[in-house]
Amino acid sequence: MSSEGFVPPPYPYDRLDRLAQICATHPGGIVDLSIGTPCDPPPAAVLTALATSDSERGYPPSIGTPGLRGAIRHWIDRRFGLDVPVTQIAACVGTKEFVATTPQYLRLRTPSRDTVLYPAVAYPTYEMGATLAGCRGVPVPALPSGGLDLDAIDAEDIDRALMLWVNSPSNPTGALTDLDAAAAWGRRHGVPVFSDECYVEFTWDGRPRTVLETGLDGVVAVHSLSKRSNLAGLRVGFYAGDAELVDYLKDVRKHVGMLVPGPAQAAGVAALEDDAHVELQRDRYLRRLEQMAHTISAWSGLTVTLPAGGFYLWFDAQDGWEFAERLAREGGALVSPGDFYGAGGANNVRIAVVQPEHLLLRVAERLGVN
Ligand SMILES: Cc1ncc(COP(=O)(O)O)c(C=O)c1O
Repeated sequence: MSSEGFVPPPYPYDRLDRLAQICATHPGGIVDLSIGTPCDPPPAAVLTALATSDSERGYPPSIGTPGLRGAIRHWIDRRFGLDVPVTQIAACVGTKEFVATTPQYLRLRTPSRDTVLYPAVAYPTYEMGATLAGCRGVPVPALPSGGLDLDAIDAEDIDRALMLWVNSPSNPTGALTDLDAAAAWGRRHGVPVFSDECYVEFTWDGRPRTVLETGLDGVVAVHSLSKRSNLAGLRVGFYAGDAELVDYLKDVRKHVGMLVPGPAQAAGVAALEDDAHVELQRDRYLRRLEQMAHTISAWSGLTVTLPAGGFYLWFDAQDGWEFAERLAREGGALVSPGDFYGAGGANNVRIAVVQPEHLLLRVAERLGVN
């Protein structure tokens, strides 16, 4: 029977198959810099905890074990100097599902509102979450500095807004958002601000910031171990902030059966308790960003600047698809055309530095760059 309603669009990265085939014709094969999936090892203690937690038999708590929530609280304290009550912290199964499902839960709670606000050039799941909730997704334009132009939001959209997403450091742009301004805007207008901070450990300009520094009321910070600890395969994330919102989401998500597996929760504790591997990872990404920015600008003549945060290079190539194809042909490197992140990104390209240096060097050699 044909569908009258929603048909999922092609998954952005599935649209890269043709370019991936071009890359694969190079001797030595493809160097995949498209998806932001970590390639470096997580700490050994994480793998030990994963194998020895003895937590496979019973159902794990949806909100997270006391151990995991305690480790999250401790990390927030170490990283940001904030004491967040453990009752205002809960686990999610990685953050993509949280981003994709939260709008529908907020809509059920406040049926009179139907709008999700999100950055115009952004991780595509913000818009998808609005769509899956049957909501209007309304993109918020960027300021020239890269943050959000909150003054550009229409009064009617504000009245109808269930939530505002901010993402700092941003995927794909690497820009930092003024979280004080976003939180103040949300409180002024009675719109909850959800701050996706999964790249916060890779903040290059200034110190790492969380929206929770502005106070907990009306805001929810969303974090992931995927990028911080090279654990995208583990599926451990968390959210923390406004007591009422966190309580509501805890309750509804328990009914849905959103459970981080017990062994993954135990491994998450081990990851959160260690900062040394994050320092190492910061050095790796920074080195790779510098290396790749040099390669691309030397080869193409384009201006490629380092991001304020995150592990993506994001630059104007005039036509993202055309540039991605040229790089696939000449360098065997697969990158993401900017329209994956919104129509406003169509001129751009995103390069994820998620391959080891020797493979980045291989791309440089193919392109004839020293
Ligand atoms: C901005 C942003 N938010 C959330 C996620 C989801 O990460 P995970 O589901 O692995 O926690 C990603 C992954 O690339 C991302 O870039």
